[in-house]
Amino acid sequence: MHPKVSPLLSGTKVIPVLVIENPDDAQPLGQCLVDNGLPVLEVTLRSDAAFKAIENIANKVDGAIIGVGSILTEMQLNSAQSAGGWFGDSPGVSERLLRALELSDWPFLPGAGSLSEILALREVGFSEQKLFPAEVSGGVSMLKSIAGPVKDVAFCPTGDVSSANASEYLKQPNVFAIGGSWIAPPELIYARDWTEIGRRAREAAGIGMQWKTAV
Ligand code: 3PG
Repeated sequence: MHPKVSPLLSGTKVIPVLVIENPDDAQPLGQCLVDNGLPVLEVTLRSDAAFKAIENIANKVDGAIIGVGSILTEMQLNSAQSAGGWFGDSPGVSERLLRALELSDWPFLPGAGSLSEILALREVGFSEQKLFPAEVSGGVSMLKSIAGPVKDVAFCPTGDVSSANASEYLKQPNVFAIGGSWIAPPELIYARDWTEIGRRAREAAGIGMQWKTAV
C-alpha cells in the first residue's frame, strides 16, 4: 500500500491550491493561510517560481503542511521532495510517473478521472486519490456512483470545487478532503490581497470544520 496523505492533514478538510508567480509572495501568502485556519496548502508546479516558493514556505512559515501539486514527471517528483514538500499530487499519471511512484514511499495522491483509472491506481496500492477534474468528471454524482463498486478508495476532489459546492463534496463518505484555487486565486495573490484571501480562508476553514475528522 502506498503511504497515505490523509494522516498528514491533521483532520484538515480544505486545501487551497496555489499558483505562485513571485517567490516573495510565498511567505505572506502561506502565513495568511495558516493564520486563517488552513495549514495544509498545495503549491502547484505551474510557475517558474514554484520550487523557490515551496522553499520559502517550508523555511519561513511555521505550521505549514506543504503539498506539491501538478507533478507530471519523475524529475519533478524528486525535486518536490527536496524542496520541502510533505506530499505530492498529480492531475493524472503517465506510465513513467507511475513507475517512479511505485518505487517511492513519499505520500502521494495520483489523479484519476474515470473508474478505470481509479481501479488501475487502486491495484498498485493507492487507496487515496485525487478526483480530477472533479466537476467535469461527474462531481458529487460520480463520487456517489463510485462508492457502490469501490469501497476502499477515498478521494480529494479538485477542479471547479468552490465554497458553493464544498459541503456537498465533503458530505460524501468517500471524500477525505477537497482542494481548489478559489481561496487564493492568482489574481488575488498578484494583488497581494491578504485581507480577501484571509476572509476566504476563514470561510473555507469554517466549512471544513463541520466535517473535520478526529485525529
Ligand atoms: C488542481 O490542480 O487541483 C486544480 O487545478 C484546482 O482546480 P481549480 O483551479 O478549478 O480550483
